[in-house]
Amino acid sequence: MARRIIIDCDPGQDDAVALLLAFASPELDVLGITTVGGNVPLQLTHRNARMMCDIADSKAPVFAGCDQPMRRPLRTAEYIHGETGIDGIDIFEPDTPLQSRHGVDFIIETLLAADDGSITLVPTGPLTNIGTVIEREPGVLPKIERIVLMGGAMREGGNRTPSAEFNILVDPEAADIVFRCGRPIVQMGLDVTHQVLSTRERIERIRALDNPVADAVAGMIGFFERYDMSKYSAPGAPLHDPCTVAFLIEPGLFTGKDCNVAVETQSDLTLGHTAVDFWHVTDRPRNVHWVYQVDSDGFYELLTERLARYGDVT
Ligand code: RIB
Ligand code: CA
Repeated sequence: MARRIIIDCDPGQDDAVALLLAFASPELDVLGITTVGGNVPLQLTHRNARMMCDIADSKAPVFAGCDQPMRRPLRTAEYIHGETGIDGIDIFEPDTPLQSRHGVDFIIETLLAADDGSITLVPTGPLTNIGTVIEREPGVLPKIERIVLMGGAMREGGNRTPSAEFNILVDPEAADIVFRCGRPIVQMGLDVTHQVLSTRERIERIRALDNPVADAVAGMIGFFERYDMSKYSAPGAPLHDPCTVAFLIEPGLFTGKDCNVAVETQSDLTLGHTAVDFWHVTDRPRNVHWVYQVDSDGFYELLTERLARYGDVT
């Protein structure tokens, strides 16, 4: 039976690739996509998610969630993703409609109607929607099978400040609620996502698939990778968000360990830092499965094989 998931995202090119990977994977039943202000404002993130549904011919419903973090103003990342959020492909007004329900209400109502431990949440942007769900209706917690999120960092350091990764930094209060919620969490931080680099060879293999979805992925990555390749002098950019979906499809690609992870919400200097107790030097609960290693060739083989399936549609 397919795993029932809700993807909460801020497309963003890498969120978009995560969506396209999920849509092509029969192991996953995407119950809905909720969007949040993050890489770009909410009105663009929900438009971009609906564009991906059109491109992939997915019937997953798309909802707009929170446009601002829980306790502070939004900060965005057009300097990486471009003004549209998914620069690298032609923008169009999608046919996929925006659902009228708020994304937080969709998550709450879907979870309350579900069996215990039956729905996996896959957040790939700031955790505002998920934190709001938990704060507003803690009764949903037993329904959550697991939270498989992209965010945070340990040895890799921050990507938006010296101490903090973007998703956690944008809404540290929401992240704090999530990390304290008591449900199983799998965390894909920069330490693992910076291993899945979009090298030329990997992107050319995707482009060689010669189908519209693979072309869109190659185009988006081609724009998205410029900033990080220059910043890190790297042969490609980290494909952050698809690591969450790939983990759900093929967990054996990844290596991690259970650790305590806590979020800094007070310090101006280190706001949004994720303190990963990797060596268990505290007695704080091991609330997170911290992923720190990935078979990056295997990751791209999976992504490429799934994108190839879009060419099989007659
Ligand atoms: O720091 C990387 C994360 O921030 C990714 O999820 C990217 O899409 C942005 O949201
Ligand atoms: Ca994202």
